Amino acid sequence: MRVYRTQQFIRPDLQAHIFSRDLLANVRHLRGLCPSKTKFCAVIKANAYGHGLGEIVNILVQDGVDAFAVATFFEAVHIAPMAKGRPILILGPLNPSQSAEEIRTCARSGFNGVLASPDSLRYVCEALQHSGLVLNVHLHIETGMGRGGIQPESAGRIFGQIADCPNLKLAGVFTHFATADEDDLSYAYEQIEIFERFLDRYQLKNKNILIHAANSAATIKLPQAHYDMVRCGIAMYGYYSRRMKEPPVPLTPVLKLQAPITHITAIPAGHSVSYGRAFVAPRNTVIAIVPLGYADGYRRCFSNTARMKVGEQAVPVIGRVCMDQVILDVTDVPNVQLGQIVTVLDNRHDSVCSAYVLADMADTICYEILTLIHAHVNRIVH
Ligand SMILES: Cc1ncc(COP(=O)(O)O)c(C=O)c1O
Repeated sequence: MRVYRTQQFIRPDLQAHIFSRDLLANVRHLRGLCPSKTKFCAVIKANAYGHGLGEIVNILVQDGVDAFAVATFFEAVHIAPMAKGRPILILGPLNPSQSAEEIRTCARSGFNGVLASPDSLRYVCEALQHSGLVLNVHLHIETGMGRGGIQPESAGRIFGQIADCPNLKLAGVFTHFATADEDDLSYAYEQIEIFERFLDRYQLKNKNILIHAANSAATIKLPQAHYDMVRCGIAMYGYYSRRMKEPPVPLTPVLKLQAPITHITAIPAGHSVSYGRAFVAPRNTVIAIVPLGYADGYRRCFSNTARMKVGEQAVPVIGRVCMDQVILDVTDVPNVQLGQIVTVLDNRHDSVCSAYVLADMADTICYEILTLIHAHVNRIVH
């Protein structure tokens, strides 16, 4: 099967520093919450939550993780040579829009696929017929996420069909929480109850089938959902799904995004800055330009609102964020220099430009702020 690879264009001036030590420490802390037999599956979809897919996989194979989870077949193909034999689970369900050859490549490569509907099961079975290949599948059980999956009461028939298909091996059963990150966990408890009833009904515990349910929030807050494996994304990168007042486990952000000042100018009071004249200088002002903008993942809604850091000094973003430029008011920064490095997104939770602060400004979650960091931003691994 032909897999297309492009020569990735990189912007060396936009630097996402990735701190391996913090990533591995976060994994250790999360593992420490789980029984020692519980496997740790690192969720690395969306370019490893914006941190750089290859970079993160190469760090994680040094230590600490048992498996990887991606969203798509194509990510699985991309990371397979780097995964050092760790199982790769493709979370996006197997489905008839995939070619038979794609399904066969999944089996040939030893990927774990997800089955979430009877139609897909029929299709996958046909695609693998007479191939002599066996595909490991995990059955996605719908317990309340409402994003696909097999209803627990239909699972019996599906188990029968899997057993009848010589090209499929039931490797796991799992579910996914809708509200594990919220303060009110009552719905998550209901989901656990439904999942437990399903596991009991088919006597799936202590069989050679991997049972898993927990995302980051559930790994941290719902120990009864750890089962045989946890699937952690955001917490591994140093964030609680939403900011926690008294986190039970210390997590450190893994990424710090920086860029240089490329231009400095003095403007008189009354002069306006950037598109739409959304900022008019109230005083004689020194402005600095940083060469990144919404096309690089720095949201336009940060216009006139967000702050960056020059050294340890917070400076305001003034005027509209442009496609590839942001303007800062650096009047109060002593001895500001062309080429000086500015922190755009900090790796400290208490920073003026932490992912949480930026997420609040954009009325979104830190996941979106991180995953928007463009792939052409240079990832520098420390
Ligand atoms: C099925 C599944 N499991 C686990 C995760 C990881 O979630 P989190 O980043 O909250 O740990 C995701 C992410 O969206 C997911 O879709």
